Amino acid sequence: MRVDHIGYAVKNINKAKTSMEALGYTFEPIVKDMDRNIYICFGEMDGYRVELIAPMGNSSPVDKYLSKNGPTPYHICYKSAEIETDIEKLKASRFKVSIPLAQAIGFGNRRVVFMYSLSVGLIEIVED
Ligand code: NI
Repeated sequence: MRVDHIGYAVKNINKAKTSMEALGYTFEPIVKDMDRNIYICFGEMDGYRVELIAPMGNSSPVDKYLSKNGPTPYHICYKSAEIETDIEKLKASRFKVSIPLAQAIGFGNRRVVFMYSLSVGLIEIVED
C-alpha cells in the first residue's frame, strides 16, 4: 500500500480551503457526498494530498472528531491494489472495520473502507 492522502475534519470547507491555499495547496472542486452527509475537497502540494471533510447538516462521520478536537487531521488514507486482501491482512493484525467497504463519490466511485486499530487509531484504504 502507498499513502494517498491525509484527511482533515473541518467545520467550514470554504474557510479551510482558503487557509490551506495560504500554505500553498491547490484544490479540486468541492464534492457533495449525499450518502455520507459531507462536503469533500482534495488539495495537493509537492505530491502531498490532503482531503478536507466538512459536515453537511447533522449526523456526519466527522462529527465526533470535530466535537472532540475541533478542526484536525484525523486519518491517513492508503491506496491498495488488492483491497480485500489487505483488509484481511489488517484484520489479522487486530485492525477492525469501522466503516465497511463501499463506493465513494469523492473518489470517482472507487471503494473505500475505514479501519481502526487500538494502537494507531483510524486509517482509510481506497482501492487503486
Ligand atoms: Ni480520506
